[in-house]
Amino acid sequence: MVCLGNICRSPLAHGILENKLQDSNYLIDSAGTASYHIGELPDHRSIKVAKANGIDITSQRARQFKTSDFDVFDRIYAMDESNLDNLKTLARDENDLNKLRLFMDANPNSAYNYVPDPYYGDFSGFEEVFNLVDETCNIIARDLSKQD
Ligand code: 4NP
Repeated sequence: MVCLGNICRSPLAHGILENKLQDSNYLIDSAGTASYHIGELPDHRSIKVAKANGIDITSQRARQFKTSDFDVFDRIYAMDESNLDNLKTLARDENDLNKLRLFMDANPNSAYNYVPDPYYGDFSGFEEVFNLVDETCNIIARDLSKQD
């Protein structure tokens, strides 16, 4: 799960999907395309909205996406088009490119085609992101379970 700072959206996607797949053998992680917040806890508003929904994301620390992540993960979900474009520039070959997805493409019936950046807004934006990511992770989790 990849966003810009790895402190707002992708830590929620990481925690939510991990929570839904906890009895499975999936390695789920998140990263940012930018380096601004490396080593930091998720944003306090992401921590709060996750906690209100029974998910603890306080063991996460922000990191920056690195090329070797293409060797570790089968699916790499970008929260928006700009982060997807950044990831495409890091891809080394067709195999890497084929791992890249726009997260909201998993949820074609949603009114949203990307996860809006809540960083500069108020708490309601984090609740909106939580609901959007939760709904989309239900679809991703269902899709992954079909492959098991
Ligand atoms: P995120 O949100 O990409 O969902 O983690 C942001 C976090 C920090 C910044 C922008 C977006 N920033 O500009 O520092």
